[in-house]
Amino acid sequence: MTNSQQQKYNNPVSATLTGIRDLFRKQIPAGTLNPTDRLDGKTVLVDGASSGLGFAVATGLARRGAKVIMACRSGIPEKGEKVKKLSGNTDIHMLHVDFSDIGSIGELVKQIKVKYAPLDILVCNAGIVPKQSRKTKQGLEEMFMVNYFSKFIFLNLLLENQCFNEVDPPRIIFVASESHRNPEKFQWDEFGKYKEYQIGKSIELYGYYKLLLTTFSCELSRRLNPNGETRYSVFSLCPGPVNSNIAREAPKIFIPVLKLVFGIFFKSPSKAAIPVVYLAASHDFDGKPFDYLFLMSRKTVDEKASDPENGRQLWKLSEALQERLQTV
Ligand SMILES: NC(=O)c1ccc[n+]([C@@H]2O[C@H](COP(=O)([O-])OP(=O)(O)OC[C@H]3O[C@@H](n4cnc5c(N)ncnc54)[C@H](OP(=O)(O)O)[C@@H]3O)[C@@H](O)[C@H]2O)c1
Repeated sequence: MTNSQQQKYNNPVSATLTGIRDLFRKQIPAGTLNPTDRLDGKTVLVDGASSGLGFAVATGLARRGAKVIMACRSGIPEKGEKVKKLSGNTDIHMLHVDFSDIGSIGELVKQIKVKYAPLDILVCNAGIVPKQSRKTKQGLEEMFMVNYFSKFIFLNLLLENQCFNEVDPPRIIFVASESHRNPEKFQWDEFGKYKEYQIGKSIELYGYYKLLLTTFSCELSRRLNPNGETRYSVFSLCPGPVNSNIAREAPKIFIPVLKLVFGIFFKSPSKAAIPVVYLAASHDFDGKPFDYLFLMSRKTVDEKASDPENGRQLWKLSEALQERLQTV
């Protein structure tokens, strides 16, 4: 990858322009989401479902007949009521979670185990672009925690507690981003360490944490499907630029311009949700251990993310960090 390609998501302006340009690039769709792709009888959990893409995904999955659990930090119960109204499906449930707090993730898993397991589909969607670094309760950097590390903890707890359907391969879907291609290399020595930054650095770090997430998704698929048999399908995708609330922390002075650009060029959350619903519901993915979509097109993930050596290293460091936090 050339240096200029790697710089595409390094600041808010280049990230926005790249997003717009990608939307106009010719894409060959991996397939089509059909009206017959139904989810009746399936239990799905969507996190970060109070806003933007997650809310639209929850609505889209509810329209296809799924029992939908919305794991949210805010919007309880009104967002769930809204999904019921929009979808005509009353089998919608809400659970509270704050992914910046390890204790809250543990509570969420307890609730899932007792009330809703087994899950057939999980959509890990919550994400942030903060205007500056912030410390979480456990002393981690918030974007690192919400955009990557919480997913590692959440998935491992769900697996340990046998919260997934063990008869039909469940689908685990991560909402990632093409910006995962941007970082030149991993910074293993810095893993999990709190560092101060301001908005100018947020987008660059956002791409780095999406690289960690994409690397985790590849490693998770390898670990869950060791013998060539698909026991779990692990999918990851970039929904393209979405007219959501992701830029809510941008400096006030830019908000009117961003709203205009997002409104004109970016996809509405309900359109951006189509590839997520496609991955969740379509038979095109039956039996697949891993796949990655950009919009509706199949792509290979960045080679740093698919490299098993990087996957092993990320897992090892994530486990060590989790253990360290448990002993504090
Ligand atoms: N927008 C884009 O152009 C774009 C492009 C590529 C990928 N993505 C990815 O798409 C996903 C959804 O983002 P979006 O664009 O829909 O943005 P959004 O409208 O801001 O939605 C983000 C969701 O994450 C939740 N969330 C944030 N911090 C949380 C926490 N600590 N605990 C629990 N939930 C938390 C938010 O909850 P609250 O409402 O309570 O804050 C909200 O429901 C993210 O992973 C993002 O990285 C977005």
